[in-house]
Amino acid sequence: MSAKDELERIAKEVAQCRLCELHHSRKRAVPGEGPPNAEIMFIGEGPGFHENEQGRPFVGAAGKFLDELLAKVGMRREQVFITNVVKCRPPSNRDPKPEEVEVCTKNYLERQIQAINPKVIITLGRYSMGLFLPNAKISEVHGQSFWVKGRLIVPMYHPAAGLHQLSLKPEIERDFLRLPELLEKSKQAPRESSPSSFEGEKSAKQLSLF
Ligand code: URA
Repeated sequence: MSAKDELERIAKEVAQCRLCELHHSRKRAVPGEGPPNAEIMFIGEGPGFHENEQGRPFVGAAGKFLDELLAKVGMRREQVFITNVVKCRPPSNRDPKPEEVEVCTKNYLERQIQAINPKVIITLGRYSMGLFLPNAKISEVHGQSFWVKGRLIVPMYHPAAGLHQLSLKPEIERDFLRLPELLEKSKQAPRESSPSSFEGEKSAKQLSLF
């Protein structure tokens, strides 16, 4: 099956999903969007109010900031795949529960990553970082790259963090400015897990999801 077909199939399944309690309160599920062959994939936490209304990821204030950050490196959101750890809005924007994260990532996010096979995954915030680097502290690792199974994982602060805590904004912008360099690096490197052959990159021994 082509990546496009698989992504469409996943989106249909997500729209009808009843695998966790979040389906009771959702208005629209938010599978994610972007080109099936995207080189860069962004993974946020979960839909908020506006995403739940529209069925699209990052369309509220944090999404506007994400668009601005992409523009700083000459990119548009149509060039990247944007999705979330959980595909339905947690009521009142509460944190997703471990069992919700587990069932949603196993059934949908993992398949999206396999279908798209991105070269770089940017995790936005601690929930998506936790899938790949469960023991990391975002204040210590943000903007660094971790070579994991053939692609670079780059944890970044969630854009909403920059809106709530203005002192983080310049750090978030600095991390984003590294994007072209990281993408270039991911293309030059052989696609296998071999930390020693990637200077400056760290291995992610503590990987839990993949
Ligand atoms: N925050 C997220 O983590 N994801 C969205 O889609 C919107 C806001």
